[in-house]
Amino acid sequence: MYKRTLTGFTAAALMLGAASAQAEVDLEQGKQLNNQVCMACHGPKGISQTPDWPSHAGQHSDYIVHQMELFRDQNRWDPQGLMTENAVGLSDQEIRSVAAWLEDQTPPGPREVDEELASRGESIYHAGIPEKDVASCASCHGPNGEGVPGAQFPAVAGQHKPYLSQSLHGFKSEERQSDRNRMMRDTAGRMSEDEIEAVSAYMASMEHPEAEAE
Ligand code: HEC
Ligand code: HEC
Repeated sequence: MYKRTLTGFTAAALMLGAASAQAEVDLEQGKQLNNQVCMACHGPKGISQTPDWPSHAGQHSDYIVHQMELFRDQNRWDPQGLMTENAVGLSDQEIRSVAAWLEDQTPPGPREVDEELASRGESIYHAGIPEKDVASCASCHGPNGEGVPGAQFPAVAGQHKPYLSQSLHGFKSEERQSDRNRMMRDTAGRMSEDEIEAVSAYMASMEHPEAEAE
């Protein structure tokens, strides 16, 4: 009798747990997870000190959640093999919580880049390369590189140039996977090496509208 009641209680508690995991994000849990795990590579406030590794401060949480799920399910290319092992084992609730906490942090400011290179990248970013049928990056990543929340179009302003150019190469070689990456594969696939370097320099130098003034 006692046993049966206990089993019933446990099942009810588990169901409740599952229902609330669907519902809410927990910013405190997100911050703790960041400090325990993510910070070592992505910085204490989501700003990475390593040029090959991305910053997430101010990044849209829906984009972060989606990329974490891709890593967790081993559907996104991970050149150094560092992310997949950190995403495996995280629950949906943990992923949503850390993503929400990261979105709340102040985005990175503009990076110092080769100005001549960035000025060539500027026109690609805003106007695309019409003769190669490369669309304007601004149409999806925003006029100030701020991305589009809710559409999984990531912010790119102030991201490290080496990470940006590595990502574009990943799309071009079709190694970087996503269920929606035709958008980027077609774009990057038509760009030359030099165009990728130029537009990456420009994105790194852009000032995110919510970045703190230096
Ligand atoms: C051991 C280092 C390491 C740790 C720890 C780590 N990451 Fe990463 N993370 C990386 C690297 C390297 C990449 C870039 C992979 C690539 O080039 O595609 C990355 C990429 C990402 C991306 C994709 C960013 C984008 O703009 O597409 C997200 C999101 C992310 N990490 C979130 C996290 C979160 C959240 C945690 C903590 C739970 C975490 N990472 C822990 C190294 C790490
Ligand atoms: C039609 C919309 C669209 C256009 C146009 C577009 N992008 Fe993207 N971009 C996306 C989407 C969606 C993603 C996320 C793909 C994924 O899920 O991996 C992305 C991802 C990226 C990333 C990876 C960011 C990160 O944090 O890892 C870079 C870099 C990038 N785009 C640069 C560009 C550049 C440069 C151009 C213009 C030459 C451009 N994009 C044009 C939609 C677009």
